[in-house]
Amino acid sequence: MLVDSHCHLDMLCPQSQSIEDVLEQAAQADIEHMLCVSVSLERFQPMMELIAPHAQISASVGVHPDGTDVQEADEATLVELARHERIVAIGETGLDYFRTEGDVEWQRERFRRHIRAAREARKPLIVHTRAAREDTLAILREERADEAGGVLHCFTEDWDMARAALDLNFYISFSGIVTFKNAVELKEVARRVPAERMLVETDAPYLAPVPKRGKTNQPAFVRYTAEYLAELRGETLEQLAAVTTDNFYRLFADARRPVVEAIQ
Ligand code: NI
Repeated sequence: MLVDSHCHLDMLCPQSQSIEDVLEQAAQADIEHMLCVSVSLERFQPMMELIAPHAQISASVGVHPDGTDVQEADEATLVELARHERIVAIGETGLDYFRTEGDVEWQRERFRRHIRAAREARKPLIVHTRAAREDTLAILREERADEAGGVLHCFTEDWDMARAALDLNFYISFSGIVTFKNAVELKEVARRVPAERMLVETDAPYLAPVPKRGKTNQPAFVRYTAEYLAELRGETLEQLAAVTTDNFYRLFADARRPVVEAIQ
């Protein structure tokens, strides 16, 4: 069984597909759980309503670093919203200097607030970083993010960044990007990350893996990424699925793992 550790079901459903259809396809691909990741407070309540009837979906709370003209989340608000029983993480948060211009002190402040909230709420962080390697690591260290733990999601950086993240008690999550032909350096990183620190994700509806590249992504497609990674690492899909799924529930300790019925 696999877990999609990062998707945005509220951007996929019901615009592209019904949630029932998405969950049915996920079940057929052996995806047992999905983490639906928050990007803004404005979208938070509708997202929670969408996932409410479906126990195999957990969620996070946070404001994406790309979000401008959005409601800011203070620490207390994040901590309060994180008390909901389905919330297993804080994020996605982080730094993105690729999409934002000018003075981005507001982005760094937003990131710091999320880290403080994660430590207070005792929930792991979901971190997005793009073109901001040094500042991301510096802030994670300054704010003692290792106490909360977390994941660098949709990892696209080099081995030095992976090593630094591992040293900070973080996990590394691979998306469909690792299946792309031109992601040569990333494939090398994916070979080297220790199995017990690796997660898989779709980031749906974006970044569908080969052979679905260019299509709307959905949690079922995490299987293609897992198959690709297993082959890359010389492991079986079963091995990779088992270890990344165990990793998921270890990191996101509040996520409800389906009870396997013992056959007597
Ligand atoms: Ni995302």
